[in-house]
Amino acid sequence: MAKVALITGAARGQGRGHAVTLASEGVDIIAVDICAPVASMGYPLAGKEDLDQTVRAVEALGRRCVPVVADVRDGAALADAAGLLGRLDIVVANAGIGGAWEWDQVTPEIWRDVIDINLTGVWNTCVAAAPHLIAGGGGSVIIISSTAGLKGQPFLAPYVAAKSGIVGLARSLANEWAEHHIRVNTIHPAGVETGMSAGFATLQSLIDKHPHTGPIFVNALDVEVVEISDVSAAVAYLASDAARYVTGTELKVDAGNTIR
Ligand SMILES: NC(=O)c1ccc[n+]([C@@H]2O[C@H](COP(=O)([O-])OP(=O)(O)OC[C@H]3O[C@@H](n4cnc5c(N)ncnc54)[C@H](O)[C@@H]3O)[C@@H](O)[C@H]2O)c1
Repeated sequence: MAKVALITGAARGQGRGHAVTLASEGVDIIAVDICAPVASMGYPLAGKEDLDQTVRAVEALGRRCVPVVADVRDGAALADAAGLLGRLDIVVANAGIGGAWEWDQVTPEIWRDVIDINLTGVWNTCVAAAPHLIAGGGGSVIIISSTAGLKGQPFLAPYVAAKSGIVGLARSLANEWAEHHIRVNTIHPAGVETGMSAGFATLQSLIDKHPHTGPIFVNALDVEVVEISDVSAAVAYLASDAARYVTGTELKVDAGNTIR
């Protein structure tokens, strides 16, 4: 029987890339996305047509793909989604929002939404998936963090707080779920050109205003962004048996950003 992966934020961007990559390796997909805007964010999130496009891309590879319009802030909806294909082996907690603001421009709504989606949403995803992973004898939970989960990037305080928080969450669950043969790891991409890039569009003007912060955002390798396929390759590795003894690790796909 084919393995099954639950992927959040699967309608577009990196999430769609992970869905297609895992499907190409024979995995069936439960593709979750909010398919609606979040008012405090100044850029559009995915729509239902994006999620349908992910479904078509997975099905073109001969795999099953169940679309689920759900918000990762809704634990009950995630619990329903996790059981849809009768088994669960892989979880990619990828859904996220982001934006750049000076600290005194962060409204209570921005703080709440970023923490609720990027931190609590990951917790909700893990909690919803766990009973199915345990029942199946184990699995791989892959949490998409960021370079922001490993260093103190200015103008991104709520995002850094959430992306750092999920590192602690992953380490804790990696210990707690080891007895169930569930591995839990985080991936830390550098900038990736996706729909979220529009959310970070104000970052350059903030760096220009505070030029001493510029070097914090520069990668060691001579690229400004990594590709979705680079991150999907890391997802595929952590999902695979080749990573059977890899748990509680922070896998950087960051062109050396965090060693600077
Ligand atoms: N783009 C970057 O530069 C970058 C770098 C490092 C890490 N990341 C992380 O990678 C992950 C994927 O982002 P992306 O770059 O593909 O951006 P994206 O905006 O294209 O994709 C994010 C997806 O998550 C969905 N989503 C947002 N809130 C949701 C919610 N509450 N419930 C369910 N779905 C929701 C969106 O609709 C969208 O389809 C995010 O966790 C992001 O923080 C992005």
